Amino acid sequence: RRHRIKMAKVNAGAALLSLCLLLACSAGGTQAAYVDVEGTVRTEVEKAIKSNPGIGAALVRLVFHDCWFQGCDGSVLLDKTTSGGNTEKKAINNIGLDGFNLIDTIKYKLGNSVSCADIVVFAARDAARYLSGGKITYSVPSGRKDGIVSSAAAADAILPQSTFEFQQLVDNFAKKNFTQEELVILSGAHS
Ligand code: HEM
Ligand SMILES: *[C@@H]1O[C@H](CO)[C@@H](O)[C@H](O)[C@H]1NC(C)=O
Repeated sequence: RRHRIKMAKVNAGAALLSLCLLLACSAGGTQAAYVDVEGTVRTEVEKAIKSNPGIGAALVRLVFHDCWFQGCDGSVLLDKTTSGGNTEKKAINNIGLDGFNLIDTIKYKLGNSVSCADIVVFAARDAARYLSGGKITYSVPSGRKDGIVSSAAAADAILPQSTFEFQQLVDNFAKKNFTQEELVILSGAHS
């Protein structure tokens, strides 16, 4: 019995110690871990566009192609998945996608403070703001999770093809509840 009591005391002591460590950790960690996620994305996007103007358009297209298939889950960025097979990067409708290196650079800077999916969304927003001379601004929520599923064939079945006629484009957008007017407005991204 004495042994058991002793163990209980040791356990209580250990529990108290770990509680203190936890508190100290979270108190110190909150300050140390603060990262200006959106500010960093914006700075990096503007820096990248200044040295390569084409990257801005690439970022706007990238968010469309990530979100149109499986939602905004960053799956367009994946080079491979555990299930194997071609990822979205290999989809025919994704030919010419760019901006991957910039997203990687930003993710490397920000680490676990943000998902890749959020970076794609923020980066496109910041590119639109910069390229429009500040005329296009909007806020977006954060908190998207990164997906681990990515299939070229599945993406090709959902993304609009470059050969689509107008009615096919209308139908494609209708599947996502976008109106004909919204299709026309969003297609303006190509200008
Ligand atoms: C409506 C159906 C759409 C079709 C069929 C389509 C198709 C295409 C094609 C074939 C390209 C050229 C890719 C290449 O060869 O490099 C392209 C580029 C582009 N698309 Fe779309 N697109 C559509 C909608 C959109 C939307 C909704 C957005 C964004 C709101 C968008 C943004 C862009 C941008 C910014 C580029 C230029 C990318 C660059 O220069 O790097 N597109 N699109
Ligand atoms: C489109 O709208 C319908 C009706 O409100 C809804 O049931 C459906 O989930 C929506 N589809 C998408 C892709 O948001």
